Amino acid sequence: MNLSKPIYIALAGSLLLGLLVTIILVLIKNLSATGLSGSIILLVSLTTVVLSLLIFTFLVRRYLSEKIKVIYGIITNEQVSEMPEVNFTNDTLAKLTEDSTEYAAVQQKQISELKKQAAFRKEFLGNLAHELKTPVFSIQGYVLTLLEGGLEDERVNRDFLERALSGVDRISNLLEDLDDIAKLETDRFKLNLVKFNFVQLVKDVFQELETKANHRNIKLKFDKHYEPTFILADANRITQVLVNLVSNSISYGIDGGETSVSINVYDKKKILVEVSDNGVGMAKEHIPRLFERFYRVDKSRERNIGGSGLGLAIVKHVLEVHKQTLTVRSTEGIGSTFSFTLDLA
Ligand SMILES: Nc1ncnc2c1ncn2[C@@H]1O[C@H](COP(=O)(O)OP(=O)(O)OP(=O)(O)O)[C@@H](O)[C@H]1O
Ligand SMILES: [Mg+2]
Repeated sequence: MNLSKPIYIALAGSLLLGLLVTIILVLIKNLSATGLSGSIILLVSLTTVVLSLLIFTFLVRRYLSEKIKVIYGIITNEQVSEMPEVNFTNDTLAKLTEDSTEYAAVQQKQISELKKQAAFRKEFLGNLAHELKTPVFSIQGYVLTLLEGGLEDERVNRDFLERALSGVDRISNLLEDLDDIAKLETDRFKLNLVKFNFVQLVKDVFQELETKANHRNIKLKFDKHYEPTFILADANRITQVLVNLVSNSISYGIDGGETSVSINVYDKKKILVEVSDNGVGMAKEHIPRLFERFYRVDKSRERNIGGSGLGLAIVKHVLEVHKQTLTVRSTEGIGSTFSFTLDLA
């Protein structure tokens, strides 16, 4: 018998009780030779079955309703005493199974989200401590050497102070980058949208990074001649995007290589900007994590270059608040192309 429905449990119980009563009555009849007739035994047994069926059904339903109410209290996080009575029907158990499965799925999702956040916090703090440790230790070293006599030594005092200062600069850049990301992440962050000539901005950024590019003999160029192209965006933030991308293309470029910027109008409303280099590139597996804070493809290689892995996180955030897209294509040993969209003014 299928005992999954409460009515079946009550029925099983009352049939058993009926059987028990019948056996007892038959025994009494046989042992004490009382005048119990077969029809009376049958009548009493049947009455027992019917009455106990009614009582059992009532009790089982009440018991289940109470229990289900407690379960719903847990699921909905409400006080059990304040919840309405559960009206038990044949569908109640099926609905409870469905609701609790749904509840379990939501809880599971929340737990994995919290776990992810906890792991992220741990990693973030670890990365931050690591990034701060190097410059702080070097500043500490130079200051101690100066205090222990270096200060009076004309040959090293200025040099050590300058080195300590470069450590301070590094920390200050790092904090500025983190502050930028934190600002961009707040909902209240306001973009200062203005109309400006993007072609001119690229030229300005090329000029700003010319010395850095010359150090590695890298050519910065447009892929062709462009007429002025006016866009509507936060000029300072977009400058930051371009500086980060072009600066990366130089840092991870090859000596004597080149960086090229192209602009294409599409849909008459937008431009697609591409910053391409023929540098070291990267393997596919790095691309999904590239825009995470502190993520660097080759930790040892970048140590010499001095980046902390925040540049692309800022680029991603800036374009996100502009509601624009950003994609990257890259092949190890061949080069990389970072593309993003902007709104035409
Ligand atoms: N054009 C590129 N070619 C090859 N690898 C790149 C390029 N741009 C970025 N990367 C890889 O992506 C990583 C993350 O770049 P990101 O700009 O976020 O950090 P960074 O340059 O190391 O430091 P920061 O920009 O904060 O000074 C880099 O460390 C580098 O490994
Ligand atoms: Mg960078």
